Amino acid sequence: MLVLRMSTVKAIYPGTFDPPTNGHLDLVSRGAKIFGHLVVAVLRNTSKGAPLFTVDERVEMLREATQDFGNVTVEAFNGLLVDFARQQGAKAVLRGIRAISDYEYEFQMAMMNRKLDRQLETVFMMPAEKYTYVSSRLIKGVYQLNGDISELVPPLVLQRLQEKKTAKDLGPEAASLGGEVPGDV
Ligand code: PNS
Repeated sequence: MLVLRMSTVKAIYPGTFDPPTNGHLDLVSRGAKIFGHLVVAVLRNTSKGAPLFTVDERVEMLREATQDFGNVTVEAFNGLLVDFARQQGAKAVLRGIRAISDYEYEFQMAMMNRKLDRQLETVFMMPAEKYTYVSSRLIKGVYQLNGDISELVPPLVLQRLQEKKTAKDLGPEAASLGGEVPGDV
């Protein structure tokens, strides 16, 4: 059996990151501590509907927000996560679990990814308690309604949100705060 030490393992932290939040960055910092290299991977072909930020904008924001980590890089990917992981030489996928409600979706994804590639392990980490309720969707919704989200996103994301702040840009879905969707980070 091949034994891998986490400090030598390259891991992928995939997501939509529309926009990146302090919860995401908290997970990046936890992942960067235990893995040798962490690739934050922004999904291009999301099924979540029209994103607020383009993939390039999200990659740019994440690159800026993670620039102080020596072992973190940011890429965009298309298609299956397992294919991207293989292409990157990554042996692990990092995902965050904030609450029990995340578990079912995350479990299904981890099992499907294992079915598709037996060599790829999913590792779950919990963000700091203060971010357990934070999701990109709630951030957009609250910001749209003039709520203060300054402690929940990096300053550059706040600035980018300000630049986009028109009802049209943030979209009707962002303004609806009804019901958190599992897996909506
Ligand atoms: O931030 P999100 O939207 O919860 O991230 C979801 C993501 C990007 C991790 C997931 O949708 C994904 O991996 N998509 C790539 C397509 C894929 O590999 N699907 C099969 C695994 S279920």
